Amino acid sequence: MNFKKRDIISIEDLSKDDILKILKVAKKMEKNPVQNILKGKIMATLFFEPSTRTRLSFESSMKRLGGEILGFGNPKITSVTKGETLWDTTKMIQAYCDVIVIRHYLEGAARLSAESADVPVINAGDGSNQHPTQTMLDLFTIEQSQGKIKDLHIAMCGDLKYGRTVHSLTKALSLFNPTLYFVSPDTLRIPGYIRHELRTKKIKFSEHTDINEVMNKIDILYATRIQKERFPDLADYEKVKNTYILKKNMLGGAKDNMKIMHPLPRVNEIDNDVDDTKHAYYFQQAANAVPIRQAIISLVLGAEK
Ligand code: CP
Repeated sequence: MNFKKRDIISIEDLSKDDILKILKVAKKMEKNPVQNILKGKIMATLFFEPSTRTRLSFESSMKRLGGEILGFGNPKITSVTKGETLWDTTKMIQAYCDVIVIRHYLEGAARLSAESADVPVINAGDGSNQHPTQTMLDLFTIEQSQGKIKDLHIAMCGDLKYGRTVHSLTKALSLFNPTLYFVSPDTLRIPGYIRHELRTKKIKFSEHTDINEVMNKIDILYATRIQKERFPDLADYEKVKNTYILKKNMLGGAKDNMKIMHPLPRVNEIDNDVDDTKHAYYFQQAANAVPIRQAIISLVLGAEK
């Protein structure tokens, strides 16, 4: 429960009480977004993979709380190109900052950085493994749109094999008695180890290839991009890339308050004609990144308790 100096690497590092605490502080931040509680603190953002929302919302969060930022969004301009290891990079950068936010293309990279650095390290996405702060903003968004997190019917659709956001979110939702519907092509099913965990925890779930089978049952449709960059063979990506394109005319049977979420970026999973419907919630979801990341940074730096 005490967050000060803690690393945030995996959603599994957070208890249910931890998750509820972050949500509570985020609601406070939402009401009072500009403060000076991190004056004198510096956050380093080390992004070894492309990002728009995660990096910029972390930086916006730090600035709105009075802190400073340094870092890079393009590793090609760093000494990594000269062969410097991730271990050495984070060991050295910790001397320049109070908290490190890292995104890396390798699973486990954030954990390695956390072992190297004494300042708190926050995982902003490691390969197809975890993206815990995205999960926190997803939970915040679910609660905001539905008035609760517990007992909801949630579909996850698209690339459930490589999509790290669905892996983290499934684990977190398991604490809140969901009914889950996994909708994907056969080649991109939710990994076996996650299905095994769900069975062990007695979480209700089913698998589908057609989103229309579940449309009238769900409170949330969580769409994801097919992760082209993670396919070992691009021919396999070509086979599945346009499997799911959500259009307005597919939403007729949906519950009145069914909301569509997407971690973004979207490529063509959601047609633009959905944007003006009452179901579209993905841009609000992206906006929720700021209060959630403000909460997480201020907790690990001890400015919130
Ligand atoms: N949702 C998300 O992680 O977006 P970015 O890749 O743009 O950071």
